[in-house]
Amino acid sequence: MNSPKGADFIVVANRLPVDLERLPDGTQKWKHSPGGLVSALAPFLRNHTGAWVGWPGVPDIDVDEFTDEGMRLHPIALSSTEVRDYYEGFSNATLWPLYHDVVEPPVFDRGWWDAYVKVNHRFADACAQVAAPGATVWVQDYQLQLVPAVLREQRPDLRIGFFLHIPFPPVELFMQLPWRAEIIRGLLGADLVGFHRPGGAQNFLWLARRLTGLEPSRGSVGVRTRPGVVHVGDRPVRVGAFPISIDSDSLDATARRKDVVEHTRRVRADLGNPKKIILGVDRLDYTKGIDLRLNALHELLHEGRVDPAEVAMVQLATPSRERVEHYQRMRGDIERMVGRINGEFATVGRPVVHYLHQSVQRDELVAFFAAADVMLVTPLRDGMNLVCKEYVACRYDLGGALVLSEFAGAAAELTSAFLVNPHDLDGVKNAMQDALTLDPAEGRRRMRALRRQVLTHNVDRWARSFLEALGSEQTELVNQ
Ligand code: ADP
Ligand code: G6P
Repeated sequence: MNSPKGADFIVVANRLPVDLERLPDGTQKWKHSPGGLVSALAPFLRNHTGAWVGWPGVPDIDVDEFTDEGMRLHPIALSSTEVRDYYEGFSNATLWPLYHDVVEPPVFDRGWWDAYVKVNHRFADACAQVAAPGATVWVQDYQLQLVPAVLREQRPDLRIGFFLHIPFPPVELFMQLPWRAEIIRGLLGADLVGFHRPGGAQNFLWLARRLTGLEPSRGSVGVRTRPGVVHVGDRPVRVGAFPISIDSDSLDATARRKDVVEHTRRVRADLGNPKKIILGVDRLDYTKGIDLRLNALHELLHEGRVDPAEVAMVQLATPSRERVEHYQRMRGDIERMVGRINGEFATVGRPVVHYLHQSVQRDELVAFFAAADVMLVTPLRDGMNLVCKEYVACRYDLGGALVLSEFAGAAAELTSAFLVNPHDLDGVKNAMQDALTLDPAEGRRRMRALRRQVLTHNVDRWARSFLEALGSEQTELVNQ
């Protein structure tokens, strides 16, 4: 509820659920923000009254608070320098690669750290202003790891939860961070710290012991078992695993809609009704393994194991963090690879790879999912990965096959997928070929099992289990 005294439930994330876009003619419009955090949380929040504190996605702009789909949105302004140092720098060129197994080398820059501290204080100040007495504040993701402690200083009356949407790294990697103790202390300001997987929670507990001298509980943390606990003075901080999910029922319903079924048919026709459609859907991020799936396809075509006349691959890639160097390099590599495959194997009017460096509308995305015979989700490391769950939710027809990296958090739940080690190119190629030649009965068996998991574990269940654990005085997490 929002009252004159402030909001009782607040989500705070780096981004608002909507992103301000400046158009070339000088006008501006709001659009859906990119990424899994917003895809997961926005449907949940639309059904619950609350406020959302976040950045509107463009620098040097002051936007007044406003209401969108029942949510009260509180924009936080960032200057161009802060976007460069806090967002592109410390968040996305230090923490992002460090937390994703140093797939690219993280940069440690003291000026970026200073900006991170300053901006985290700004977010915490805004929450302190917006929150009603005794409110619940749910802090999201790696950009805001100092907010729990700063906010607690100002507002000890609040109940504060923190959830990390990306992997929490192995301790040896985290220990590289010059500001490692500050980050752990920041997170310990929360009443509940949540990760996707038990391994992340375990790593955090180990680091809390090593870096703060506190005495965390020693039992292992599971998804359905007891959380870990760290006592900060007489205040318990619980630490648990909460695998996030999607609004599966709504995607299932969308995929069944007549107009979407028609759209699905059109997608196949537009691609020339190939025998098999292969699909990749990602933010254009170097952790997603887009290059390696293109390499795998290239080799399969070369070896004659895949016939270019029978297969079309679609790669949808949302533009992301375009000023960060790692991302620029990756984009160049991927686009060269697409050009090379088409150069060698396309015929006029029949490319093998259809590459869209664009974000597509929800209904269109569902039509692509429903049309795809093989879905490739091959990250080198991913906290959860929602795309694979979305694909499964759209396949009410029990068609399609999912090739999924073992290094996505979702692999622990989607065990009936073709699981691959993305570092093993031959393994990826074999799995792609198996998926392309899958016996339909075996495919239905696999898809049924995948759907059972995805449809019974939706985002509402995830949010409820986190919030119940946050509100509860008991040490046991609610059933997942
Ligand atoms: P991440 O959060 O790292 O981007 P996820 O797989 O968890 O990865 O979430 C990505 C979200 O963005 C999903 O909801 C997916 O449907 C959406 N998405 C990714 N690429 C596109 C695209 N090209 N067009 C529209 N939506 C996309
Ligand atoms: C991932 C992160 C989110 C982030 C999203 C999009 O899902 O976990 O925190 O918002 O990617 O990235 P961007 O940098 O565009 O916000």
